[in-house]
Parts: sequence; C-alpha cells; structure tokens
Amino acid sequence: MDFNLTQEQSLIQKTTREFAEKELVPIAAKLDHDGVFPREIVDKLAELGLLGVAVPEQYGGAGMDNVCYALAMEEISRGCASTGVIMSVNNSLVCDPLLKYGTEEQKKKWLVPLAQGKILGCFGLTEPNAGSDAASQKTTAVRDGSQWVINGAKNFITNGPQSSVCIVFAMTEPEKGNHGISAFIVPADTRGYAVTRVEDKMGIKASGACSLAFEDVHIPAENLLGTYNKGFGVAMSTLDGGRIGIASQALGIARAAYEKALKYSHDRTSFGKPINQHQAIAFMLADMATELDAARLLIWKAATMKDKGVRHSMESSMAKLYASEMADRVCNKAIQIHGGYGYIKEYQVERHWRDARITELYEGTSEIQRLVISRSLLKD
Ligand code: CAA
Repeated sequence: MDFNLTQEQSLIQKTTREFAEKELVPIAAKLDHDGVFPREIVDKLAELGLLGVAVPEQYGGAGMDNVCYALAMEEISRGCASTGVIMSVNNSLVCDPLLKYGTEEQKKKWLVPLAQGKILGCFGLTEPNAGSDAASQKTTAVRDGSQWVINGAKNFITNGPQSSVCIVFAMTEPEKGNHGISAFIVPADTRGYAVTRVEDKMGIKASGACSLAFEDVHIPAENLLGTYNKGFGVAMSTLDGGRIGIASQALGIARAAYEKALKYSHDRTSFGKPINQHQAIAFMLADMATELDAARLLIWKAATMKDKGVRHSMESSMAKLYASEMADRVCNKAIQIHGGYGYIKEYQVERHWRDARITELYEGTSEIQRLVISRSLLKD
C-alpha cells in the first residue's frame, strides 16, 4: 500500500491550495454574508480546468483521475465551501453521467462546454415528495413524435439558477416504478423550463439552490441520456461519484475549522499559558486531526476504486457518512476551542459549522448512506 501522491496529484493539490489561499480565503466570509454567486471565481475555476477535473482532455476536461478531483475539492472547499459545491455538482453530477452514459454527439454538444466551464449544469433528481425516496418521481416524460414532453417540478437544485442545462430524471413508464425512470438532457432555455423559487440557506450561501418547474417542456428525442427506463441506475451510479465530492467538501470545511482552532490555541493564553498546553484543548486537537485523516483515507479509497472502475457504492457512502458527520464534530470543537469568540462571525468558525451541516443532507442524508452501507454488508 502506497500513500504517496503521484506527481500529478501533488501538483493539483499544490495548485488548488495556493489558489484557495490567494483567491478564496480572503473573500469567503463576504461571499457568505452577501450570498452572491461568485461568477468571477467560477471563471477562474474554469481556467484551471477545475470544472471537468476527471473528464478526458478530448472532451474539454483536465484529464486527471478521481483522486486528483478529491484533492482539489478538499482544497477549494477549505477556501470556500460555496465554491466547493458549485464545482462538485458540475463535475460529479453533470459531467460524470454525460461522460459515462452520453453518446458521442451528446458529449460534443454538452460535455465539452461543461467541462471547459463555459456553461454550468445541474442535476434534477430531487422533488418536493421524492427526496430520500428518489424512485418516487412524479415528473413525467411522454414521447411525442420526435420529441419528449416533460412536466413536473424539482427542488433543492444546486447550481439551478446559474445552469444552462439540467440532467432531469422523469417517469417514462410510471407503473414500472424505478424501472420506469429515464434521464434527459434538458437545456434551460427551453420554453416551459422555469426557476420558480431560489432558496435562502443556512450555509453555502453563495451557491444557488432553487426549485425548477417543467411545463410542457419539449426536447428532442436524442436528449435521452443512457437507456430508456434505466435512468434510476444513472442517478444512483452518478451519486456514487458525487458522494466522493461531497465527502471531500466536508473534509475541506473541517480542515479550515481545525486550522483556525489550532492557530487560536497557540495565540490565546489562559491560566498563564497557551490554551493548547491544557490537556482539555490538546486532546480536542488530537481527536480533530485524527478524524480528518480518517475521513481523507476513506475518500482516497473510494476515489481509487472509482479510478479502477470497481463498484464503490458502499465505499463512497462510508466516505460521505464519516466525513460529513466528522465535519460537524470538528467544527463544533473548533467553536469550543475559540470559546465565546467562536460564536462571533469575525472568527469564521461559526460559518464553517453552518457550511458543514448541509453535507449530512445533500446527495443522500446520513440515514441513506447507512442504508446503502448496511444493504451492501447484508447482501453477502
Ligand atoms: N449503481 C447502479 N445501480 C444501482 C445503484 C448504484 N449505486 N444503487 C441501486 N441501483 C439499482 C439497483 O440494482 C436496483 O436495480 P434492480 O431493481 O434492477 O435490481 C435499482 O437501482 C433499485 O435499487 P434499490 O432497490 O436499492 O432502490 P430503492 O428505491 O430502495 O432506493 C436508495 C435506494 C439508496 C434509498 C436511493 O433512493 C437513494 O440513494 N436515495 C437518496 C437520493 C439522493 O441521494 N438524493 C440526492 C439528490 S442530488 C443532490 O443532493 C444534489 C445537490 O443539489 C448537491
């Protein structure tokens, strides 16, 4: 077993760490305060190839592996969690299924500009009554000659307000349940496609999340993504990759909080010595550092399996479950180490805690991760 990064992995880690330190850390608190989508930052991500990290160069991507993607996600999210999720959705939930299931035509038309960051995309799975129970879709797609007609609604769609295209899951044969769902590439400028509500969130406030409505949205027949009625598998295998991205986001957020707590513990004195000389604080730091590393190893394992083309549903769920719950614990401890100052916005650890919370919810709640893991354990 070799825990050393390759030259390419070290390089992307270094590049994204420097980028985050220079471009994201100084503005992250303001982005959180203003809740404004960071358009210029997203353009810079595009220049660095960070909107299609694991997409081959021939399709406009950076042509790197999924460990590189996880490393980049950790660093970007350490700098700004909102930027992290914007990047993660475009990479994992949009580029990845287009790469895996798209036809050559679809790749040329959609994957290339998405991976280059010329446009952004979103993932339309969640509905008002289909969150954890993703198979109970109400959105329908009906064939009409050479077109599909989509009707329905989606909600909590990250990147939705800024996206030019959405991967939409819809019932093509409702009576067949999860065997009657198909995936579609739906351009946002199609008549009948509307952003109906933009959410005001607790954290990751500079990323957009919205509801979408589809009213007689006509798209060409060739916009079916993957095989007819096999859309549920497209959604699930896409989320296997997405959960690596969100686990890495959680890790980056937790590391930001840990690093601030570590520094504060040197600077702050009580009872005549730096607070990290008190065992109560030193042991908290020890637990935080251990948990960060444990999460990182789970993420690297899942990403390595994805790179090898091995099924990694359970490993991705383990990585996301552990990293997201770890981030909550680590951010909470970082506030505790800061004492009363931790509750004050200026010290920023409260932001990390708010940003971390969503990682236990989106791309499958912790309960869904436990379901995936336990089903996988029990099926053998
Ligand atoms: N890869 C490929 N196929 C898979 C799969 C996977 N990882 N997981 C399941 N499948 C297949 C199964 O093999 C099965 O096929 P057969 O019926 O042919 O045997 C079929 O899919 C149904 O599987 P299940 O019986 O396990 O389905 P289920 O209805 O019990 O649901 C679930 C499983 C795990 C609960 C699933 O519904 C789930 O993951 N729910 C959470 C949804 C989620 O994560 N939503 C996040 C939305 S996206 C988001 O948050 C983005 C954002 O904005 C940031």
